[in-house]
Amino acid sequence: MPAMSFSKTSALFNVLLAMTGLVAIAALTTPTVQGHVRFALEMLLAGIWTIYGLQLLATLMLRQATGVHDAIPAIAIDVLAVLLPLLAFLFVGRRDQSLYCAIWLLKPLRQSTFFRMMGRVISNEARNLIGVTSVFGILLFAASLAAYLLERDVQPDRFGSIPQAMWWAVATLSTTGYGDEIPQSLAGRILGGLVMMSGIGIFALWAGILATGFYEEVRRQDFVRNWQLVAAVPLFQKLGPAALVEVVRALRPRIVPAGAIICRKGDRGDQMYFIVEGSVVVATANPVEIGAGSFFGEMALITGEPRSATVTAATEVSLLSLYSVDFQMMSTNSPEIAEIIRRTALERRSAVHGG
Ligand code: CMP
Repeated sequence: MPAMSFSKTSALFNVLLAMTGLVAIAALTTPTVQGHVRFALEMLLAGIWTIYGLQLLATLMLRQATGVHDAIPAIAIDVLAVLLPLLAFLFVGRRDQSLYCAIWLLKPLRQSTFFRMMGRVISNEARNLIGVTSVFGILLFAASLAAYLLERDVQPDRFGSIPQAMWWAVATLSTTGYGDEIPQSLAGRILGGLVMMSGIGIFALWAGILATGFYEEVRRQDFVRNWQLVAAVPLFQKLGPAALVEVVRALRPRIVPAGAIICRKGDRGDQMYFIVEGSVVVATANPVEIGAGSFFGEMALITGEPRSATVTAATEVSLLSLYSVDFQMMSTNSPEIAEIIRRTALERRSAVHGG
């Protein structure tokens, strides 16, 4: 099934291929790279292009065969990654041919969730971002106007018009300060200082808006994912909507590989676990295997005693962990569930002590 395996090419492989290609493109612009080395780099680009071609073929075949449709932007990136270098090879002079392979920069974005997330953050925060950008524009024009008024007679060749002064204003407001244009008058320098400080404020605002937007988006995604996981644990189906929201916020998802120890006998326990998928083995005198929908680690939480047994993942297991403070919160909000957990803990405790 070569088509299938190509289509499943991992995001990491795409990133590595694209990076290798871009290094080759950069090297090919160096005049000293000639002869065999140049030929080898061009062959490397041809190799990458072939892999991308096969990848595109696999995607299209899979689309046809299974009806599983990748998003249009992802297919568009695949098509461009193959088509643009091909067109360049056919119609562009040899010197610039390889530059068109720079379209491969888009390849790692294909599977990246980061850029999708960034798109959502920008669209959610659009109003605030437009607000700060407008302030930036107003300040830019005001700074250019002031610099023009203050410096036009001293340096007519650099500040002779507002558009000319704008270059200085951009470099200063962004705190880049190339230093190719410097105010000479005292008033011009004071203006420069004020513009720099305003620039720092504007960029801090931009950074703050984006950071908050990212944080909220991550929280939102975590909430949705936790919600789906919590829905898979029958115990929580007894919860009312308000209590459910609290539990979803409190639970932390975790994937444990098969064979890993989740908690060790004798350790202090500050959290309990709900099994969403997979199973674990509790190493009591007669080892017990417990699976999806069940929970463990509640005894240490309730009694305050050390862990009564070592618990190991029998398969890869998807867990939701609940810390003791959040367990107290759940006990208050949903005494019914807390009671079930307490009762189970007591039964297991007597089994441990009885065994
Ligand atoms: P805790 O003592 O915190 O850590 C080990 C966990 O194994 C324990 O909580 C229980 O959740 C679980 N456990 C102990 N004994 C049994 C048993 N007999 N059957 C099922 N689970 C158990």
